Amino acid sequence: MREFFEYRDGQLYCESVPVKDIARRFGTPVYIYSKSSLLYRFRALKDAFDKQGLKPLICYSIKANSNLSVLNALKKAGAGFDVVSGGEIYRAMQVGASANKCVYAGVGKREEDIKMALDWGILMFNVESEAELALINSVAASMRKKARVALRINPDVDARTHDYITTAKKENKFGIDLYTAEQIFARQKDYKNVRIIGIHIHIGSQIVDTRPYAQALKKVERFIKLISGKHNVKLRYINIGGGLGITYDNEKVDAPEVFARRVAPYVKRLGLKLIMEPGRFIAGNSGIFVCRVIYVKKTPAKNFVIVDGAMNDLIRPSLYKAYHRIWPVSPVSEEEFVCDVVGPVCESGDFFAKDRKLPVVGPSDLLAVFSAGAYGFVMASNYNSRPLPAEVLVDKDRAYLVRRRQSYKDIVKLERLI
Ligand SMILES: Cc1ncc(COP(=O)(O)O)c(C=O)c1O
Repeated sequence: MREFFEYRDGQLYCESVPVKDIARRFGTPVYIYSKSSLLYRFRALKDAFDKQGLKPLICYSIKANSNLSVLNALKKAGAGFDVVSGGEIYRAMQVGASANKCVYAGVGKREEDIKMALDWGILMFNVESEAELALINSVAASMRKKARVALRINPDVDARTHDYITTAKKENKFGIDLYTAEQIFARQKDYKNVRIIGIHIHIGSQIVDTRPYAQALKKVERFIKLISGKHNVKLRYINIGGGLGITYDNEKVDAPEVFARRVAPYVKRLGLKLIMEPGRFIAGNSGIFVCRVIYVKKTPAKNFVIVDGAMNDLIRPSLYKAYHRIWPVSPVSEEEFVCDVVGPVCESGDFFAKDRKLPVVGPSDLLAVFSAGAYGFVMASNYNSRPLPAEVLVDKDRAYLVRRRQSYKDIVKLERLI
């Protein structure tokens, strides 16, 4: 896959813009996204499936990176969206997304969220339990509407990824087991205000070997055959969720073409329209997080590089022990040292890297944390009353501030003194 963050003459660039100029202009810590990368990765996935004759609806998963300018770029390229909350529906509306290209997943949809989605005209709900189906049915009835839904099946497969991001094993909270799903199809006439038009799966995230998709689809194919024969079910969509991984370190990730070849035979035999919900694959390597060194602290045990970014800005290392490549934006020293890269937050879990070999850096040097475009800013918090960082989108030779840094005033503005 092509990379849009590259070193040229000893300087890190995002597309044609030096990262150090962005840091100087907008301050640090800062997230920097490449628009060309977002579009390139969206198209790479789309082309791979188009080549298999499938023409999928690609519903970019807003949760991965929900910045409005990111959504706008993908919408203009033809993406629909996968949403998981009223807030994400609101974001999709803000960029003028077509509701009929959007799908709504999540185990805890509330009545007001369901109403909002129905009002908007969402293509379908990905339903995660029978209780949810019943609620959607009654909300739709009260609005004199018929809701389109897909049942999210839990196929009980192991996506061989981190425990926190595997979602299709029977002990996970997601989806409906095959037995219960069949019962629902048997009783579908009881739900007069829903039309079940699809099957949905989402087996996990950061999946680098795509064979588990085939395993899951094999089960889904068998299941669809069963319900079609037994309960006269006529479906229109198969949604394979998101999950395709990216290279953070040196993982070998199946290329979109391999993924498409793996999935295509099942989808073709089923004769259904394919939907997919990639998040990380599109956004992950389309963004970096840049912070500045405040101090280098040498203790008898370790070297600590203390930077102005922290776990509240990018929580993946603390939360999942996730690996992110880190390198100076303008490396100068030939000499290397082993260090922990840590933030100013008062937690020992506040680190970006441990025992990492880096060129020797000092105060005011810039560090780039790579592969930070997905599940980065969206998981940021105000812990330690730290303002949320700025977000910048680069389009070729121009850098745009697409979310300004929070001020201290912003942090307290919803509170009141009593
Ligand atoms: C239902 C659903 N679809 C899509 C995604 C996006 O996953 P990824 O970013 O791994 O592509 C997720 C992530 O959790 C999800 O829960």
